[in-house]
Amino acid sequence: MLVLGIESSCDETGIAIYDSDKGLLGHTLHSQIKLHSLYGGVVPELASRDHIKYIIPLIDQLLRDNSISIDSIDSIAYTAGPGLSGALLVGSTLAEALAYSLNIPSIPVHHLEGHLLAPMLEDDKPSFPFLALLVSGGHSQLIDVKGIGQYEILGDTLDDAAGEAFDKTAKLLGLGYPGGAALSELANEGVAKFELPRPLFHTHGFDFSFSGLKTAVLTLVKKQPKLTNTIKANIAFAFQESITDVLVKKSIKALKHTGYKRLVVSGGVGANKKLREKLILHSKSENFTAYFPKLEFCTDNGAMIALAGALRAHLSSKNDYKFSVQPRWKLSETESTF
Ligand code: KG4
Ligand code: ZN
Repeated sequence: MLVLGIESSCDETGIAIYDSDKGLLGHTLHSQIKLHSLYGGVVPELASRDHIKYIIPLIDQLLRDNSISIDSIDSIAYTAGPGLSGALLVGSTLAEALAYSLNIPSIPVHHLEGHLLAPMLEDDKPSFPFLALLVSGGHSQLIDVKGIGQYEILGDTLDDAAGEAFDKTAKLLGLGYPGGAALSELANEGVAKFELPRPLFHTHGFDFSFSGLKTAVLTLVKKQPKLTNTIKANIAFAFQESITDVLVKKSIKALKHTGYKRLVVSGGVGANKKLREKLILHSKSENFTAYFPKLEFCTDNGAMIALAGALRAHLSSKNDYKFSVQPRWKLSETESTF
């Protein structure tokens, strides 16, 4: 079965074709980072317009590059939420209209479900059940994943998400938007000079809180007589150490709580090298296996949506075509909303 996947929830237009027998056949992506970086953050209206501009040419190009005719597509999966409503509507409208015209099913996919299933794009796939650490620009969650659609949120962020904390700290250090990857690169040039708090490190639950960490960085920055590149790198180093220590500690705690031996890491912050290194190191001493998507599938992409659609196809009884999105769709409600 061939599934066309469409992602347009935020600032990336991602398109992919997934074959349920052969795996991922191809994918393509247009990033809007340049467009939004002028404004220091995503401008929703500009995001919607840019998705409109690129979405059809990207689908055409991908089909052509893979010598696949649109008529051989069996179903169309698209991100139906959560995300920016205008941006979501571009993908949903196109997917539903195209599916209707081809008389094939459309499959609304939860964006976070796409993220947490992304490691299944790899050859060495995790099997169910597993614990997922989902760390993106909008979310920091520890999820007990028992199967497709069976998600129990064990821990969530009480304020800023991990990616948001990376981005805000990067902005404080003058690294532009979105600064997660840039901050991580700068951190790799730094050394252990400063100590920053590790929020909720010793608490019993699995929740995260990163806004205090960002404030601590602000206080540290203000204390510096001159913000040289070396000092910036050392602050970035301290920030990255602190946030990754918290993510690793809570993940190990949740693994012990669930009794699972498989940890899936996904979302944009899952691309962080330091986080990956620490988890791999601890996986040996704590006896678990860590699964990561390829770097290109950590951040938003169409492949994870096509894959989630393929895994959901048999569960989806949907044959009506409706142009509705769920900008605030909860992961725990994937079975009831559409
Ligand atoms: O999953 P994603 O593409 O979008 C959302 O669904 O939010 O995640 C984007 C987030 C941004 O906050 C970005 O700064 C962060 O992931 N990010 C990173 C790295 N690469 C992307 N954070 C830390 N280290 C990285 N290497
Ligand atoms: Zn995402």
